[in-house]
Amino acid sequence: MSANELWGGRFAKGPAEIMERINASIDFDRRLYKQDIAGSMAHSTMLREQGIISSEDCQKIQEGLQTILREIEAGNFKTDPALEDIHMHVEARLRELIGDPAGRLHTARSRNDQVATDMRLWVRDTMDHLDGELKDLQKALLFQADTEADTVMPGFTHLQAAQPVTFGHHMLAYLEMFARDRSRLADARARLNECPLGSAALAGTSFPIDREMTAKALGFDRPTANSLDGTADRDFALEFLSFASICSMHLSRLAEEIVIWSSAQFKFVECSDSFSTGSSIMPQKKNPDAAELIRGKAGRSAGAFQTLLMMMKGLPMTYGKDMQEDKEPVFDAADNLQLCLAAMTGMIRDIKVNGEIMKAASGAGFTTATDLADWLVRKLNMPFRNAHHVTGTLVKMAEDNNCGLEDLTLAQMQSVEAEITDEIFDVLGVDNSVASRVSYGGTAPSQVRAQVARWQTILDGEG
Ligand code: ARG
Repeated sequence: MSANELWGGRFAKGPAEIMERINASIDFDRRLYKQDIAGSMAHSTMLREQGIISSEDCQKIQEGLQTILREIEAGNFKTDPALEDIHMHVEARLRELIGDPAGRLHTARSRNDQVATDMRLWVRDTMDHLDGELKDLQKALLFQADTEADTVMPGFTHLQAAQPVTFGHHMLAYLEMFARDRSRLADARARLNECPLGSAALAGTSFPIDREMTAKALGFDRPTANSLDGTADRDFALEFLSFASICSMHLSRLAEEIVIWSSAQFKFVECSDSFSTGSSIMPQKKNPDAAELIRGKAGRSAGAFQTLLMMMKGLPMTYGKDMQEDKEPVFDAADNLQLCLAAMTGMIRDIKVNGEIMKAASGAGFTTATDLADWLVRKLNMPFRNAHHVTGTLVKMAEDNNCGLEDLTLAQMQSVEAEITDEIFDVLGVDNSVASRVSYGGTAPSQVRAQVARWQTILDGEG
């Protein structure tokens, strides 16, 4: 057996190659190039201002960094796994471009505080994009809520028709969920926004650096207050993934409803062709693939969160190479969430609502029985339990007559409870039922319109 076979036949150079492959992160962390260069720009300016490097060296460094930025953006940047990661690639290229002064950039800095800073910057940028995309989704939901404020649909518990609601109200329920997701993002962003740069390897540095200056230059609120924590912490990434998991779960629930609603059994809505596909064998089919993929991808965000949480949980202070494994789950969750938000926004904007079918389904199953019972309590001062019993008898009667509660005659109703008057018909029927739910946050079209107006003001106010 040759040494190669012992180490794994696929690795031509044996242990050296295996080590290079397991160690290198450049294939994924090259995505940090912008943040890495921004960090180096801020760091070199600070080193110059503090008299740690000369103005001439600083200028060469910064011109070199700008050249590298252009090279990467033009797609002309060669990578080599032997150089491990984006930080070493940038530094190596800088040395090729400007020679010795390149070596001064890493004064008072380590890759440990560098990568912690880069990741915070990347997650922060991503949070800001996602917040905008969540807002677009909210606007699409708001548009549907406004358009369909009067459209009656069955409200479900246990996926059994419970009481009629409006489609607009249903859209607003999701708008609220995505508002909480945005507020989770804002909370996480505020905690993230401290700069670890200057923590150096773990203990800080003896150079007279100005951490306030670099923090400010990179848009952070302040420097982190403990150099050990600054290099070892990945809470910000965990909070981001926790947000992503919850937000994906919300998207997945909405996706699941779209799958149900667009089925041939329900026919409540029709998705636009842009977000559906046909079947290669069954010509009648139009499948809600985008919705299914959104539902499917929710598992990935939750998985990414678990991956990072488990990776971190056993690590002693401070940096461990394990932490290089933080990137792929963060990137994957971010990419997929971005895609899912865009797809959901498009689907909601285009969705066609079948008001007739939803209305017919809303009345099926005596969904206004509660309205009848409530009327007996309100108008006849009947104890709710008795009202419940009377209503049950009337439901049975309607069932026997194969009609809705509102189709029973007054005489039939009075045969069960003599004091019932024809005012009862004001609350029966699904339109009357929803119109009566005027409690704050209730499903009445008047309430839905009030909430639409409130959200319009909030979203407009954000600019
Ligand atoms: N590529 C590394 C990472 O992503 C950078 C930090 C390396 N630091 C070290 N001490 N080896 O974590």
